[in-house]
Amino acid sequence: MLDAIKNRRSIRFMKKETIPEKTLNEIISAGFHAPSGHNNKGWHVYVTENEEKLKTLSKLHKWTRFVSNSSAVICVCYDTSELEDFWIEDCAAFMENMLLQATEEGLGSCWIGVRGIEVGGIVMEDEVRKIFEVNSSFKILSLCILGKVANSFNFSKKIDISKRIHKV
Ligand SMILES: Cc1cc2nc3c(=O)[nH]c(=O)nc-3n(C[C@H](O)[C@H](O)[C@H](O)COP(=O)(O)O)c2cc1C
Repeated sequence: MLDAIKNRRSIRFMKKETIPEKTLNEIISAGFHAPSGHNNKGWHVYVTENEEKLKTLSKLHKWTRFVSNSSAVICVCYDTSELEDFWIEDCAAFMENMLLQATEEGLGSCWIGVRGIEVGGIVMEDEVRKIFEVNSSFKILSLCILGKVANSFNFSKKIDISKRIHKV
């Protein structure tokens, strides 16, 4: 598991290749095994491999343009009807589990932000809700794009962890 944690990178350059259904299901299942505040587990996911939808998503703004290279996109949502308190934390934990499982499966993945993102007048949540036909009462946190790695160029900022650990 530590290997997957250390090797996970946001992959934005992917090759088109159908992801086996079993692999896709394992990745989604990893999400559903995330911890959840008050054990509420209000997650719902919408999954697409539809080329038209991938293209539409990729045209929303500059940080979604990579979506067109991916093979599948998972939209992570939450039904807050029973409890609203921890929906963001719950969905973030769901996302991270999926990114790690994708790494473990040898696939590339990348988090695409949706909640609160507005670029050039495009409100991501509204567009994503339409594209995935998300239930109007569900919250939407983000998208997880998946595909075969074409280029794993590492944009990740290096940080000195030793300066960030404060033992008190
Ligand atoms: C909340 C959140 C939103 C993000 N949104 C985007 C996005 O819209 N597009 C994108 O290409 N990457 C997005 N990322 C990925 C980050 O850019 C990436 O994690 C960061 O550059 C560090 O690189 P690494 O994941 O390879 O360590 C997002 C990550 C997080 C946690």
